[in-house]
Amino acid sequence: MTTITVKTSRTYDVVIGKGLLDSIGARLSGLIPPKSAVFLVSDDHVYPLYGETVCGALEAAGFTVFTHIAPAGERSKDAHRLTKLWLQLADAGFTRSDCVVALGGGVIGDLAGFAAATYLRGIPYYQVPTSLLAMVDSSVGGKTAINLAAGKNLCGAFWQPIEVLCDPAVLTTLPEDYLADGMAEILKYGYIGNPALLEVLAGDIKNSMEDVIARCVAHKRDIVEADERESGIRRLLNLGHTAGHAIEKLSEHRIPHGHAVAIGMLLAAKAAVALSLCDESLPAHMEGLLTRYGLDTVCPYRAEELARYALLDKKRTGNHITLILPTAIGKSVTYQIAASALTDFFLKGGAPA
Ligand SMILES: NC(=O)c1ccc[n+]([C@@H]2O[C@H](COP(=O)([O-])OP(=O)(O)OC[C@H]3O[C@@H](n4cnc5c(N)ncnc54)[C@H](O)[C@@H]3O)[C@@H](O)[C@H]2O)c1
Ligand SMILES: [Zn+2]
Repeated sequence: MTTITVKTSRTYDVVIGKGLLDSIGARLSGLIPPKSAVFLVSDDHVYPLYGETVCGALEAAGFTVFTHIAPAGERSKDAHRLTKLWLQLADAGFTRSDCVVALGGGVIGDLAGFAAATYLRGIPYYQVPTSLLAMVDSSVGGKTAINLAAGKNLCGAFWQPIEVLCDPAVLTTLPEDYLADGMAEILKYGYIGNPALLEVLAGDIKNSMEDVIARCVAHKRDIVEADERESGIRRLLNLGHTAGHAIEKLSEHRIPHGHAVAIGMLLAAKAAVALSLCDESLPAHMEGLLTRYGLDTVCPYRAEELARYALLDKKRTGNHITLILPTAIGKSVTYQIAASALTDFFLKGGAPA
C-alpha cells in the first residue's frame, strides 16, 4: 500500500493498494464519529460490481448506509440530479458529522463532491475512485462540479475529501476505452513536467499500475499544494483541455474526456512548434505514446468551431485566454493569447479549416 498525504485547506491521505476496497469501513471509522450515517453515491455500472462489498464493509463498521445510484454517464452530473441528492440528504436527516461516499468514476466524484460541499455548507466527503481517470486526476485536488447547458463544470466548489481510497484491482472491470481515457491524463502529467513518468510509460506498465497511479497522485499533490485554487501552476493541468472540452461538447460527449484531451494535447504541441516555442521532436514523441495507449490523435472538428466552443469555457479572462503549451519533452508553460487569435491557434495545431 502506498500512502500520499495531501496538505491543502484540509490535510488528507490518498491510499493506493490492490484489495483495499473492503477496508473502507475500518478506514472511515478513524475519520468520522462512530454510528454516523453514510450516503453512498454510485452509478448503475459500478454499484452492481462493488456496491455490496462497500456497503457491507461500511455496515460492518457500524455505519447506517443510504444509497443513491445514478445512471452511468456524464448526463448525471447535472442540476437535476444534484437537487435530488440534496433532498435525499435532507430527508435522511444528514448532519455535519455524517458523510458522503463517492464510489465511481469522475462523474460520481464531481457530483457527490459538490453535493457534499454545498449541503449544510459542507459535510465530510470520502472518495473511492473506480476509473483510472478518477484515481489519477479527479479524486485529488478538491475540485467538484456539475455541468450546465452552457458548458462543462460551470457550477462547482473547491471541497477537499477526508480521504481517497484507490484500489487498482477494480480496474479489471473498467472498459478498455475508459482505461485509455485515464491514460490520457497520465500522459498529461508526463508532458507538463514529469519526464521520469514518460520514461516509465515508454516501457511495459502492465504490472506497475500501482506505481504509475502513485506517481500521478504525487505529482497532482505537489501542484495542488502549491496552488490549491488554480491561480498559477495548477493551470498546467489544463494541458489539452481547452480544445478537449470543446471537442467533448461538440461531440455531445460521444468522444470521452481523455480522448478529447489527447487530441487537444497534440494540437497544443503542434501549435507550439508552429509558434517556435517548442522542441520540434515533441509532437511525434507525443503522438507515439498517445497511439500506443489507444488514444485518438486526429481532430474531427474545424478550428473555427473549436474556438467558438472554447470561448464559452471558464478559463477565459476578459478578451484573453490562457493556454498551456508544451515546450520540450516533460515541460509545459502557460501562454496567453487574444480570444480573437484562437481559431488561428487551432489551425496551427492542425485542426481542419
Ligand atoms: N474534479 C476534477 O478535478 C476532474 C478532473 C478530471 C476530470 N473530471 C471529470 O471526470 C469526469 C470523467 O470521469 P470518468 O472518465 O471517470 O467518467 P465516468 O465517471 O463516467 O466513468 C466512466 C465509465 O466507467 C464506468 N466505470 C467506472 N469505474 C468502473 C469500474 N471499476 N468497472 C467498470 N466500470 C466502471 C462508469 O460507470 C462509466 O460508465 C468528467 O465529468 C470530468 O469533467 C473532474
Ligand atoms: Zn481532464
